[in-house]
Formats: sequence, C-alpha cells, structure tokens
Amino acid sequence: MAWVRAASVDEVAEATALDVELNGKRICLARVEGEFYALLDNCSHRDFPLSPGEVDPDECTITCEWHGAVFDLKTGVPQCPPAVRPVPVFVTRVENGSVFVDMPE
Ligand code: FES
Repeated sequence: MAWVRAASVDEVAEATALDVELNGKRICLARVEGEFYALLDNCSHRDFPLSPGEVDPDECTITCEWHGAVFDLKTGVPQCPPAVRPVPVFVTRVENGSVFVDMPE
C-alpha cells in the first residue's frame, strides 16, 4: 500500500463526491462533515460509477444513480438491494490541505 495524493481538500465540497483516478483505479472520494471517504468508483451491482450519486451526510452513505443501491461510505457495505456485495474502501488522510488515499501498489 502507498499513500497517493487524490485531491486538494477544497476540490471536494461538503456532502459531495469526486471521481479521481489513482494507480489506474477509479476512486470515488466523498466528504462528510470534514471527513473523507474513498471507495472503488464502481457499484457492485453493475459496472456503473458511484461518484455521481447523492451523498447523504446524515447517514454517511452514497446512492448509486442507476438502480438506487445505497452504500455506507465508511465500510462500502450496501444498505439495500439491488447491490449485495460490498464495494472496496480505502483509508484516507489529510495533510497540508491535500487528501491522500492508501492505495494498493
Ligand atoms: S448499478 Fe448501482 S444499483 Fe445498479
């Protein structure tokens, strides 16, 4: 694993998600109450990006735009059908105004 710079803190507005490519993987970088969450930007139901979906800051979830599966941003675990498999999540940290994600090499 290696820390990879994903974005500046200011690039990710509160309660939104940004798509970034890190080490050849599409990552959904979401922000809730100043915390950053990184998930593979690929719904586990079908091959569709999660990053355009709606972030719910109260539940700390993101909803897939295609069929409405809801994923926990902290764990990647789906909260409702049609998705049944979790989405991989990655550890994040903030340093000097940038968000870093711990990515497989
Ligand atoms: S592709 Fe995400 S819920 Fe179907």
